[in-house]
Amino acid sequence: MKMKTIAIREMLPEDVPEIAMIERSSFSAPWSETSFYSEVYNRHSITRIAELDGMIVGYICVKQIIDECHLMDLAAHPDHRKQGIATMLLNNVIADLRSDCRRMYLEVRASNAAAVKLYGKFGFKTVGIRKNYYMHPEEDAIIMMLTIEADAPAQARPK
Ligand SMILES: CC(C)(COP(=O)(O)OP(=O)(O)OC[C@H]1O[C@@H](n2cnc3c(N)ncnc32)[C@H](O)[C@@H]1OP(=O)(O)O)[C@@H](O)C(=O)NCCC(=O)NCCS
Repeated sequence: MKMKTIAIREMLPEDVPEIAMIERSSFSAPWSETSFYSEVYNRHSITRIAELDGMIVGYICVKQIIDECHLMDLAAHPDHRKQGIATMLLNNVIADLRSDCRRMYLEVRASNAAAVKLYGKFGFKTVGIRKNYYMHPEEDAIIMMLTIEADAPAQARPK
């Protein structure tokens, strides 16, 4: 039987409606389509998708500011979670940022155990809390930071 392979490619403007559907089923306060378009067209943003049989199964948006970057958004399709998709997307972006980016920051809802565990596997450390950062529902954000070594191998292995 032929193995199904997940491919990572650049996000295109025409991907946005499909991505926004995954976003709405992944977050209580989802990004709008307009937010994704502005990321796709922003030359400081890295925007990529994971694709399986022509279907989008995950996406990532990272903003780069000189030698720092910020993980803005990351999700896997609800029907395709726990299959290594978020790990693949993060590894893919970190590999490309490694030569000129030394730190990656992110905010995550304090109750989002799946995401906190994922980031912990990559070596992200908690560096602060933003009180009541999120709305719908109101919740603290954990601020996490990853130190990116210029010559290290990928931080977490895909399944
Ligand atoms: C968090 C999320 C992106 C993980 O995506 P994924 O493709 O399922 O993650 P992976 O399969 O690459 O998992 C990698 C590791 O993350 C952790 N993890 C992922 N899902 C988990 C869950 N439901 N419970 C506990 N740990 C989980 C595990 O450590 C896992 O490794 P393991 O399977 O070897 O234990 C996904 O659950 C999602 O889209 N959630 C909704 C959106 C979201 O919260 N995004 C993050 C915002 S900061």
